[in-house]
Amino acid sequence: MSTEATKTEVGSYFISNYPPYSQWTGDALPSIQQAFANPPRKQIGPTGDLIDTPLGLYLHIPFCRKRCKFCYFKVFTQMNAEEIERYVSALTKEIELVSQQPVMGGRPFRFVYFGGGTPSFLSVKQLQSLFDRLHKSISWDQAEEVTFECEPGTLSESKVHALRELGVTRLSLGVESFSDAILEENGRAHLSKEIHRAWEWIVAAGFPNVNIDLISGMVGETWENWRENVRKTLELSPESVTIYQMELPFNTVYSKDLLQTQQAAPVADWQTKRDWVQFAFEEFQKHGYQVSSAYTVIKDPNKVSFSYRDNLWKGSDLLATGIASFGHVSGVHYQNVPEWNQYLGALLDENRLPIGRAFVPTREQSLIREMILQLKRGYLDVEYFKVKYETDIADHWKSEWEAYEQEGYVSLKRDAAGACHRIEMSMQGLLRVDGLLTAFFEPQFRGVRYT
Ligand SMILES: C[S@@+](CC[C@H](N)C(=O)[O-])C[C@H]1O[C@@H](n2cnc3c(N)ncnc32)[C@H](O)[C@@H]1O
Ligand code: SF4
Repeated sequence: MSTEATKTEVGSYFISNYPPYSQWTGDALPSIQQAFANPPRKQIGPTGDLIDTPLGLYLHIPFCRKRCKFCYFKVFTQMNAEEIERYVSALTKEIELVSQQPVMGGRPFRFVYFGGGTPSFLSVKQLQSLFDRLHKSISWDQAEEVTFECEPGTLSESKVHALRELGVTRLSLGVESFSDAILEENGRAHLSKEIHRAWEWIVAAGFPNVNIDLISGMVGETWENWRENVRKTLELSPESVTIYQMELPFNTVYSKDLLQTQQAAPVADWQTKRDWVQFAFEEFQKHGYQVSSAYTVIKDPNKVSFSYRDNLWKGSDLLATGIASFGHVSGVHYQNVPEWNQYLGALLDENRLPIGRAFVPTREQSLIREMILQLKRGYLDVEYFKVKYETDIADHWKSEWEAYEQEGYVSLKRDAAGACHRIEMSMQGLLRVDGLLTAFFEPQFRGVRYT
């Protein structure tokens, strides 16, 4: 079974959903409209009873100071204050419309996530005004986590304090690297001094959970510098660290250059990127951190969790708002329109939700989605899937698991009677987990483009 390419080629690697986004279409729009117009679907809980499906909210803020050369998100870098204000008004309108949908069913938001782009691009005034307007239609008083993504150079002391006062509990900082040469080469808008400056304010503001993002395999990365990245991150001692392996989907600046010049990507190969992540994981473990997924280490799992990720990977509902956002309610996937005028027009002129495409997964597809997402955590509880999907995943994908076991990527834990009750990933498996997931895709989705 071939599970990986060695070089970092252009194309998507990170898997965040199933079936692939490229398969979602406008034909399924009536299904998502129906899902919104009906009370929420309950889900099967750990004991087999029907329970309320947890609900989360995602808000996309698509602005950045500069487009990083490796970035594949939907971002805008040239918007003026007036256009930003129009976007904030549209987003507020969208939340108002969403909050009136029967699918809310009186459920509180369990988690809220401001992602981007760069949510911290907004000024203190814009943030206060956005939060004030959002609170007119929704409340997140009962949320166990409110995450806010920040780019270091966009922060000021007053903004950091405002975020804490506005109820942000988890601040995620896009550090990526501590080397100025690498930050500059990769088109980041910040330099290392802005990381250290922001860090003092962040510590002083007392967020319950601060996460640092790093990327293994930025253009120009070396072993020597990577060790420094890890050492400097440990010095800051954040509650959690997320390490992505650099990938080059089709829509990045680097990918476009590479496709034009037909030259090999100036990004380390996959084995080197994995070696760097492994080194980092081992260093963090020596300092008391625990590996909590293929990308994350956390300092104290009893104190700090990651509600957004954990709920999403167990099939929670996610109301996605903002341009091009992806969501999932009552078993239906959907994505908002990706074009600026379409998004603003739907909300501000037509007073309707800006959903562009959707997909209704079969039960088998929902099972696959949940299983591959949970595999990123490092283990699967076979009983969980028996209860929820009446399927023995160890048996259903027997040949795939056995092949991965032979390659040393997983081990199948068996009880006295020989039945597998837990599937555990080895470190080697975890480091390449995204490359292992397509084996579980149904045949019709294996060769298709992911996004
Ligand atoms: C939306 S950004 C975080 C907030 C802010 N925009 C920033 O960059 O500081 C999410 C994260 O995705 C990661 N990322 C972006 N492009 C990537 C790529 N091509 N490969 C791997 N990780 C990437 C970066 O670590 C980045 O911090
Ligand atoms: S990585 Fe972050 S700052 Fe850079 S372009 Fe993407 S969203 Fe913006």
